[in-house]
Amino acid sequence: MITKLTTLEQFIIDKQGDFPFATGELSSLLRDLSLAAKIVNREVNKAGLVDILGDLSTCNVQGEQQKKLDVFANEHFIKALSSGGECCLVASEELDDPIYINNEVSKSAKYLVCIDPLDGSSNVDVNVSVGTIFSIYRRTKSEGPITLDEVLQKGTEQVAAGYFIYGSSTMMVYTTGKGVNGFTLDPSIGEFCLSYPKMRFPEQGRIYSINEGNYLRFPQSVKEYIKYCQQNDKDTDRPYTSRYIGSMVADIHRNLLKGGIFLYPATLSHPKGKLRLVYECNPIAFIVEQAGGIATNGKKRILDISPSELHQRVPFFAGSKDMVNKLSEFIEKHQYVNEFVE
Ligand code: AHG
Ligand code: MN
Ligand code: MN
Repeated sequence: MITKLTTLEQFIIDKQGDFPFATGELSSLLRDLSLAAKIVNREVNKAGLVDILGDLSTCNVQGEQQKKLDVFANEHFIKALSSGGECCLVASEELDDPIYINNEVSKSAKYLVCIDPLDGSSNVDVNVSVGTIFSIYRRTKSEGPITLDEVLQKGTEQVAAGYFIYGSSTMMVYTTGKGVNGFTLDPSIGEFCLSYPKMRFPEQGRIYSINEGNYLRFPQSVKEYIKYCQQNDKDTDRPYTSRYIGSMVADIHRNLLKGGIFLYPATLSHPKGKLRLVYECNPIAFIVEQAGGIATNGKKRILDISPSELHQRVPFFAGSKDMVNKLSEFIEKHQYVNEFVE
């Protein structure tokens, strides 16, 4: 039986009608991102075959400087976003300061993009899934050069957000605030095709994802929650299963499909948490909430945090509703206020 094939392009065009005053710029921006992702995907797939691996300090046989894949990904996303004319600024994990796109077509554009070009990049050398995370905001001022405060908007202001996962297949998962949809890249036609419409986090999951090597450095509440996950209990089908890839995109993606919780708490070595609010946690939190899950820093909804700086870190707990609620009970019990920064 042949079912209808919906390409990302077609889906974006169909959904443009959801936004009565849409001018098509956001649609173009999403297409630009998907094009850059195809290029990054091609290089990720070749990793190990070509001189793309290795340190920036080393040179390949032609005497050219080698580029790490996260630098390569950064350059390609910026290039794609700079040429489309819809985006006037890119803030990236790979850059200390945002890039202002000053060319004629872009300087009056109304969108800005925050991006983690390659998430889980340490996994690329060992053939394990990596990803790209993106977040799109509208400018808050209607004219004049864009300023940093326009980048530091709360996550609730995101116009769209999503991720690409370069895994056993390559997918784009995104939201514009009207649910979450997933598209799988069909390499034979080079198109992302709708494969997971209306994605939802199962309310109660059985997977917990955390770097347990840091156990001794966790707050007591998180330690107790992990013990809770490991206990025997027929009614709640415990013990739960531990799964941790070390690429947040891949961990979140699996938990979104199967039900689970992802935890990166504040630890003794990362007292403010490790993950970055603006281009890692906010976009993922938007996806998680749109899929019916919860994303919190332990005290507060992630999307309600006002960023004070671009590379700000936060503790991050996200996933199936019942699991995050259970964790919150342990956090409240301990009232570890000082360990969960705002
Ligand atoms: P990045 O590769 O963009 O720096 O992100 C890596 C992040 C995240 O993807 C992952 O969940 C986490 O770091 C893993 O950290 P640990 O190695 O400390 O577990
Ligand atoms: Mn990352
Ligand atoms: Mn990264």
